[in-house]
Amino acid sequence: MRAIVVSATGGPEVLTYTDHPDPELNPGDVLVDIAAAGVNFIDVYQRMGRYPLSLPFVPGNEGAGTVAAVGEDVRDFSVGDTVAWAGVMGSYAERTVVPASRLLSVPDGVTADLAAAVMLQGMTAHYLTHSTYEVKPGDDVLVHAAAGGMGLLLTQIAKLRGARVIGTVSTEEKEKLARQAGADEVLRYSGFSEAVRELTGSGVHVVYDGVGAATFDGGIASLRPRGMMALYGQASGPVAPVDPQTLNQHGSLFLTRPTLAHYVAARDELVWRASDVFGWVASGQLQVHISRRYPLAEAAQAHEDLEARRTTGKILLIP
Ligand SMILES: NC(=O)c1ccc[n+]([C@@H]2O[C@H](COP(=O)([O-])OP(=O)(O)OC[C@H]3O[C@@H](n4cnc5c(N)ncnc54)[C@H](OP(=O)(O)O)[C@@H]3O)[C@@H](O)[C@H]2O)c1
Repeated sequence: MRAIVVSATGGPEVLTYTDHPDPELNPGDVLVDIAAAGVNFIDVYQRMGRYPLSLPFVPGNEGAGTVAAVGEDVRDFSVGDTVAWAGVMGSYAERTVVPASRLLSVPDGVTADLAAAVMLQGMTAHYLTHSTYEVKPGDDVLVHAAAGGMGLLLTQIAKLRGARVIGTVSTEEKEKLARQAGADEVLRYSGFSEAVRELTGSGVHVVYDGVGAATFDGGIASLRPRGMMALYGQASGPVAPVDPQTLNQHGSLFLTRPTLAHYVAARDELVWRASDVFGWVASGQLQVHISRRYPLAEAAQAHEDLEARRTTGKILLIP
């Protein structure tokens, strides 16, 4: 099959489009013909070596497609089913194997493209708004990079839960998208914590920060007493070590650095989050903004665009 292979970590140029052996189907696994792979920032961190993996590897943590074969002991999936996954490596390829325990059926009304686009970020937005900090009606919520893949979903889901959403973005085009997704207020990054204070008085209940280094301190300064900083990513770089006393000084704050794997480790939790997300997509309550589809061979260009802040919403690779 054709796949992207990383043999040495580095810039986007290390994403090599090449022939690669077909994956081996073991008991409990499902072989999938991939229709689309989602591109995520974690793919960038893994490609750079910031999140180390043993080399060589086929990148890509998310995708959807059609079941081509099932291994021994697999009861819940059959050849021809449309399925999707998140948090399983090897998605930048024509085929992959996914353990049945990590695989989800895609319901009618959700295309494979949409499923690939919403699995990882949709479930992340779900746990951040339902479990990390349970957003309640009337809450003030700050969403950084509100026009990004995560940002557009977080904004919509926080609105579904009745919050007032304040978003940050870098451009006018991104502001428009964030407003279309339901953001009540949209700010630029410069001076955002002062603007948040003006809008809210005492600050926001929760900050969802996937930007990291550039926004962390301003986010801490935007929280109300006992508010929560949910630092879930670092698109601008890692956050420097934090003195716990900072949390006291800013009002007995909570700081967490969550990741999806710990919120979908149990099968019933995985199924709960995926069913909610697919249900919202099928009913039209959650719009998935796929801004661009790249041929798999152009994975390097997709990474370049994501890192250079040129993308909005979700980008996909099509094998
Ligand atoms: N912890 C988890 O479970 C989890 C799961 C999924 C994703 N994430 C994290 O969520 C974050 C967003 O991921 P995504 O895939 O949805 O990406 P994305 O938000 O579509 O793209 C990143 C956005 O971050 C903003 N940004 C600000 N400063 C930046 C900089 N110096 N370099 C690059 N981007 C910058 C840009 O928006 P503006 O131009 O508007 O600033 C950019 O478009 C990432 O940090 C990712 O690791 C975490």
